[in-house]
Amino acid sequence: MIKDIPVITIDGPSGAGKGEVSRLLAKELGWHFLDSGAIYRVLALVVIRKKIPQDEITFLINAAKNLDIKFTNNYGLAPRVVLDGEDVTQDIRHEECGNIASKIAAFIEVREVLATYQRSFCRSPGLVADGRDMGTVVFPFAKLKIFLTASVEERARRRLLQLQDQGLNATLGTVFADLAMRDKRDRDRIVSPLKPDADAIIVDTTKLSISEVLQQILAHVKSMQL
Ligand code: DC
Repeated sequence: MIKDIPVITIDGPSGAGKGEVSRLLAKELGWHFLDSGAIYRVLALVVIRKKIPQDEITFLINAAKNLDIKFTNNYGLAPRVVLDGEDVTQDIRHEECGNIASKIAAFIEVREVLATYQRSFCRSPGLVADGRDMGTVVFPFAKLKIFLTASVEERARRRLLQLQDQGLNATLGTVFADLAMRDKRDRDRIVSPLKPDADAIIVDTTKLSISEVLQQILAHVKSMQL
């Protein structure tokens, strides 16, 4: 039974620190790791490459059902993402993919297909799941639900550094505007909007380092004896 496997969900907006914290937490616990945003981004990449109209739901569902994604070990770094045998780890991080991912993520039919795929990551000894609706919709039975937040200014600053690290071109102004627009779309959508579950623990990471956030979460894990 999937519900017998311990799951920790880490939800929140882009730039709140979910990705790195979730990955390090999974490593620390020796559990599996799910980057659900990467799956939405891969679907967005397929939509861009195959020129699938973003509002043609039948095409989107079909593309979602036929995704051939593999996450491969990247020796302590974020897993590499492989689509149809091609390494697309870098390609899916472009802002265009993030924006289209956020648009197609508003379709309930797309979310249902991807949620089924996301649940297949739930394997023994446990799963750390990173996303927007991990605690509210995909793994409502999770043992521990964390919701990370941070000011939009700080998230834009972090996102800019990430993009620069990846050698991608961007300015603080455009990253800020993109983030604010994506936040609004993710929060306002009718299906699975970005919001903390009633029993989620909210952690504001604006003034915290990754390791401080990780220590806070590990303290909860310990107190719950997970
Ligand atoms: O986490 P991210 O920035 O890589 O996610 C990209 C987009 O995918 C995000 O703006 C909204 C969507 N998404 C979602 O709707 N639900 C998730 N569980 C993860 C991502």
